[in-house]
Amino acid sequence: MSQTALNSLCRELRAELRRDARGPGVAALLTRYAEREEDWRDYVFFDDAGYTRNLAHRCDEFELLLLAWQEGHESPIHCHDGQRCWMAVLEGKMEERHYREPVPGVQAPLVAGEVRRFEQGRVAFIEDEIALHSIRPAPRTRGVSLHLYARAIDQCRVFDPETGASTLREVGYYSVRGERTERPAAEIRAEWAGS
Ligand code: SIN
Repeated sequence: MSQTALNSLCRELRAELRRDARGPGVAALLTRYAEREEDWRDYVFFDDAGYTRNLAHRCDEFELLLLAWQEGHESPIHCHDGQRCWMAVLEGKMEERHYREPVPGVQAPLVAGEVRRFEQGRVAFIEDEIALHSIRPAPRTRGVSLHLYARAIDQCRVFDPETGASTLREVGYYSVRGERTERPAAEIRAEWAGS
C-alpha cells in the first residue's frame, strides 16, 4: 500500500483491531483522520439516485467504506449483522435515527428512539445491542461519511417501520478504490479475500 493518509489509517486500524477486536482505539483513529485529512475525496462518487457505498479497504479484520449522501438520501432501517460499526463524518452533518423491536424477534411496528446529529469530525458507534438505525444527512445538506465495519458486513436485515417485517439484503459497492464499478459484490469480495 502506498503512503497515503487513508492507507496509513487502514494499517493503524488493522493493528488496533488485531490487538483487541473490540477496537477501543478505533474512534480516536477515525477522529484524527476526519479532522485532518482530505485524500478520501479521491474515493467518493455521488449519485442522485441514492447514497453510494465506495469501498476503500477490506481485510479479515474490517471493511472501510466512504458513503456519499445527497440531500434527501437515507439508508433503510437496518441491523448490523452482529458487527461493530463506527461512522466518522467527513463532510456536512449526519443524522442517525434509532429504532427497536418492541419484543426482539417478534414482528410488530418498530418503536422510534433518539435522533442524534453528528458534526464534521465526529464519530458515532452502533451495534445490534444498541439499536436498529438509519442514517441521513441533515436537512438541506449533502454529506460524506466514513464507515468502519468490524468485521465486514456483506448482508443485513432491512426493516419496515410500520409492520416490523424484515428482509435480508446483500450490500454492494458503487466504486472500489476510486474506480466506478458495476461488478457483483461477491466478485469484489473474492478479490480481497485473505488480504
Ligand atoms: C450502509 O453501510 O450502507 C449504511 C450505513 C448506515 O446507515 O449505517
